[in-house]
Amino acid sequence: MKVAYKTTYGKALHGHFQELGSLKKYASLKGSINLIFTSPPFALNRKKKYGNYTGKEYLDWIASLAPLLADLLSEDGSLVVEIGNAWTSGEPEMSTLPIESLLALKKAGGFKLCQQFVWFNPAKLPSPAQWVNVERVRVKDSFTNIWWMSRSAHPKANNRNVLDDYSKSMKKLLASGKYNHGRRPSQHNIGERSFLSDNHGSIPSNVLIASNTSSNDRYTRYCKDNGIEIHPARMPLDIPEFFIKFLTNESDLVLDPFSGSNSTGYAAEKLGRKWLSVECNELYLAGSVGRFDKVSHRNSTPYV
Ligand SMILES: C[S@@+](CC[C@H](N)C(=O)[O-])C[C@H]1O[C@@H](n2cnc3c(N)ncnc32)[C@H](O)[C@@H]1O
Repeated sequence: MKVAYKTTYGKALHGHFQELGSLKKYASLKGSINLIFTSPPFALNRKKKYGNYTGKEYLDWIASLAPLLADLLSEDGSLVVEIGNAWTSGEPEMSTLPIESLLALKKAGGFKLCQQFVWFNPAKLPSPAQWVNVERVRVKDSFTNIWWMSRSAHPKANNRNVLDDYSKSMKKLLASGKYNHGRRPSQHNIGERSFLSDNHGSIPSNVLIASNTSSNDRYTRYCKDNGIEIHPARMPLDIPEFFIKFLTNESDLVLDPFSGSNSTGYAAEKLGRKWLSVECNELYLAGSVGRFDKVSHRNSTPYV
């Protein structure tokens, strides 16, 4: 495993995540990661370029990562994993493999499941195309699950750091002080003053909405200018940013073991968190370096 590049707050490593355990520095990394945020290669029926496993092989692979992930995580740290949906081959039937993967990872690492999140991507292209576009017997598959796990049921977390702006109607209500209190059909009893304190924003839900349509950001421009392939599964920055703000403090350490275009490392850098990213494909590293202003160390070829 080699350092591909370094920035003010982080390091991108070139290699396979599983090799991290054999690094000399591993002892100092154990128990030191405050947040592992990642989107591992998904279980697919058709192999993507970066070599996803399929079926039972995928379950064994994801479970085999769990001890290393648990070992790296601090006692109050969080593991946040995006696991995409999958479909069985040749049938309009969803595969249960993503759910089985979550259970395999959770069991093998002894993790607690803190909360399930849904990432809704309104711009997702219709898929699976055969069933959605051609035969018109399914609707667009447009969200993925993001599973927040931890070693204890009380990892560090603060939803005050991720408040949404108040809606117009809430702002109006706060200004006027008028609303209907009393019992609601849902059986909730709304007190006379419950909605009158200004908490500087509303508590977000576990449905996160973000499109990855950006075709003219710094990363894509850098890739285009240098003739580098744009990562096919890059995440919009809003998603890692949300979890970094929610689950870490400044100077905490964030790891992405399958970093792709390094959206996690870049989000961490912007938010003043230390970060470590691992990616096995040199070409994706060659593109991700272009996200950053200040790069202090760069391995020579092929990092342009
Ligand atoms: C789903 S993509 C991650 C996308 C990333 N979240 C982003 O925003 O760009 C998964 C990445 O894991 C990499 N990968 C696959 N197996 C790996 C391994 N054993 N160690 C490190 N990286 C690996 C793939 O090359 C791919 O870029």
